[in-house]
Amino acid sequence: MKGIILAGGLGTRLYPLTHVSNKHLLPVYNKPMIFYPIETLVKAGVTEILIVTSGPHVGQFLGVLKNGKELGVTHLEYAYQEKPDGGIADALLLAEDFASNENIAVILGDNTTDANISHQIKEFTDGAMVFLKKVNDPSRFGIAIFDKNHHQKVIRIDEKPKYPESDMAVTGLYIYDKNVFNYIRNITPSLRGELEITDVNNEYIRNNKLNHSTLDGFWSDAGTFQSLFQANSFWAKKIDSK
Ligand code: G1P
Repeated sequence: MKGIILAGGLGTRLYPLTHVSNKHLLPVYNKPMIFYPIETLVKAGVTEILIVTSGPHVGQFLGVLKNGKELGVTHLEYAYQEKPDGGIADALLLAEDFASNENIAVILGDNTTDANISHQIKEFTDGAMVFLKKVNDPSRFGIAIFDKNHHQKVIRIDEKPKYPESDMAVTGLYIYDKNVFNYIRNITPSLRGELEITDVNNEYIRNNKLNHSTLDGFWSDAGTFQSLFQANSFWAKKIDSK
């Protein structure tokens, strides 16, 4: 399976830090944020990786990651998203050639986790797999809504709902089959003007092809000052206790 890390956007919620650098290169304790999703993929045996990026600091990625060898990446490619505010699904569309009809593991570049997703990657055949995690602030995320009778079945995902009907966030880790690109072409921009990954996942639900798994261990995004701080403190404790 090939891996894709989405590391674009302007990171406006982290201004003025993101005037200095791309969000995904900011430090999370002792390394740049993007090292964490790369390590998650490499640990799961996914070593051919495409990084999709955008914004004013794109050149810095090459200097930091080079050819990826130091992190165990065997093949590293970069793609440039022209519209940094086009959304996650718009960024993912740029991975179609790289994926060349294979299944793909996708991670948002600001998501860090110590969970091991090797099993799900190994067992994946087709459709889509999303990874869920219970959160305290569900309004900030895509939220999985379950069937009232069959609690294991996700019937809908709501993107950043004002009044969340569950506290299970859809994290920024996904596995997709090749249909993902056609689904992206079928969706239209949301009210915030972005092609939403949640709309893509809802397409999989409509086709009865979405599976889910709960992430074991720590998970956080790092797109706000609070979550960036939370990610920093978790990794500082974990790394220092070794
Ligand atoms: C994005 C997705 C959201 C998901 C989150 C995970 O939100 O739109 O569904 O729960 O990533 O980090 P963003 O933080 O990019 O607005």
